[in-house]
Amino acid sequence: MEAEKITPATVRADFNDLLAVVHYARAAHQLGLWASERILIERYLPDRGAHLLEAGCGAGRVTLGLWALGYHHLTAFDFAEELLDQARSLAAERGADTGPTAITFLHADATALRGCQLLVDEGFDGALFMFNGLMQIPGRENRRTALREFHRVCRPGAPLIFTTHDRDHSPAERVLWRFEAARWACGEQDPRLVEYGDRYFEDETGRTFMHLPDRDEILGDLAATGWNHEFDAMRREIAQESAAVRDFSDECRFWVARKSN
Ligand SMILES: C[S@@+](CC[C@H](N)C(=O)[O-])C[C@H]1O[C@@H](n2cnc3c(N)ncnc32)[C@H](O)[C@@H]1O
Repeated sequence: MEAEKITPATVRADFNDLLAVVHYARAAHQLGLWASERILIERYLPDRGAHLLEAGCGAGRVTLGLWALGYHHLTAFDFAEELLDQARSLAAERGADTGPTAITFLHADATALRGCQLLVDEGFDGALFMFNGLMQIPGRENRRTALREFHRVCRPGAPLIFTTHDRDHSPAERVLWRFEAARWACGEQDPRLVEYGDRYFEDETGRTFMHLPDRDEILGDLAATGWNHEFDAMRREIAQESAAVRDFSDECRFWVARKSN
């Protein structure tokens, strides 16, 4: 029997799994924003009064970090209900669930925001999709759909900040991907994968689907969806992260793009 391809439903179920929920809830409670995230957020979103949209908020690690920095017009969404419940309860614990600074949490899919009445056209001053969430959408066209959705709900000039892996970031990685390319060339790749660059692996934090792009792929996706590339750099070039952050997350590339005026 042929193995089934990974779908958005697979990814959502993996994030709703208890192992993943515990992993992301612990990070939301204990880790908070990475040093690199904070630097770029404060550089590209200097106005604390900005209305921000955070995609793939998970258990609220970035959301509550933003709120603690004084960003008090926050809308955060995720398609994994169990993680969203964790984010809501952390917000309640920290007093970010009532009054004029309350965070709005929504259950939504980044590729289909039209169903959400709260997400009106050009309503946001900036958008974030941190810790590689965009790359956990299977299929390049679906990732482009998500980028188009963020473009639609952001005002002209708004920045979009997100991260990805980078297939070319180290010699070891380049060798690994040469082997993987050879597997795809003769059809011997993991049959569950959707595209070259995909990985689906299992560890103590559960099952993870991830698309690993190269730099040109992301530049192409931004250009195709109305975003002007403004900045990109590997995390290590932005900040020295603590051991706890490096333990939680691999090296990644940060991207900042801006909706044209
Ligand atoms: C790696 S986790 C990061 C969670 C959180 N931002 C953090 O940094 O701890 C990626 C998140 O993106 C969410 N996600 C992936 N695809 C999504 C989609 N199509 N729509 C909404 N959320 C999505 C997942 O459910 C997960 O919570």
